[in-house]
Amino acid sequence: MSTILVTGGTGTIGRQVVPLLQAAGCKVRVLSRHAGDRGDGIEYLAVDLLQDEGIDAAVAGADVVLHLAGGPKGDDIGTRNLVRAAEQAGVGHLVHISVTAVDQLPLTYFKSKLGAEQAVLQSSVPSTVLRVAQLHDFAWKTVQAMAKLPVLPKPGGVRFQPVDSRDVAERLVELALGEPQGLVPDLVGPKVYSLSELADDYLRATGKHRLGLPIRVPGKAGKVYRAGGNLTLTGASIGTHSWDDFVAEHA
Ligand SMILES: NC(=O)c1ccc[n+]([C@@H]2O[C@H](COP(=O)([O-])OP(=O)(O)OC[C@H]3O[C@@H](n4cnc5c(N)ncnc54)[C@H](OP(=O)(O)O)[C@@H]3O)[C@@H](O)[C@H]2O)c1
Repeated sequence: MSTILVTGGTGTIGRQVVPLLQAAGCKVRVLSRHAGDRGDGIEYLAVDLLQDEGIDAAVAGADVVLHLAGGPKGDDIGTRNLVRAAEQAGVGHLVHISVTAVDQLPLTYFKSKLGAEQAVLQSSVPSTVLRVAQLHDFAWKTVQAMAKLPVLPKPGGVRFQPVDSRDVAERLVELALGEPQGLVPDLVGPKVYSLSELADDYLRATGKHRLGLPIRVPGKAGKVYRAGGNLTLTGASIGTHSWDDFVAEHA
């Protein structure tokens, strides 16, 4: 039975990954900033990856580390701390989730995710990195927040390939149980949607009405979005669950 440390095992993706790993016969240990016995046979360790304390103990004895922990900033720092501990512990396989277009968008989140990816790929630990498009959950929360405004902003030319967290979890488990592969093909959803379409679907599903206000995303990021530089249109793995199904389930 292999021992797998899942960082971020309490998050949106992590909560779906953990039972799949258990079902596959793995011994699972979860690292997040909060500990506690949840009576599910899993050891939860309270470690803040940004503080670099307790990571060595969490990693000790793990055959595989599946690194899902992340936040709006500092993922490069937290990942470097994790990589150092994994190198010292002689971990056999480090699987890391990244985000599509991580090397295209000049925004703080993407810059720190790129630093995290580089820390993993340049380490001496055999690794696999999967870049994933925006989750359906993320798209839903984004349009939900936009719809709180009295007028709905409609950024021209911004498109996404939202993907379901169930597809992401299944792919991550497949990778974690396999051999290290380096950077693997991106995982995206089955269809491209403009942000306006996603927002309209949300409004329809929740019975809300808003006036739309066309806006232009400024700067370099705006140029990348309008050129579709954030999309993976060839060579990607494609998720099976659609945005339409997700909306129907959440309406
Ligand atoms: N959501 C998306 O659309 C998307 C798309 C592509 C890639 N990703 C990447 O996928 C990963 C997981 O995403 P998600 O949506 O599942 O995230 P999430 O729901 O926000 O969960 C984040 C997880 O990371 C843990 N965490 C955050 N900061 C930490 C820290 N400093 N030290 C230790 N644990 C920490 C959180 O646990 P506690 O709160 O208990 O500490 C939680 O388990 C992230 O790396 C994200 O960048 C997400």
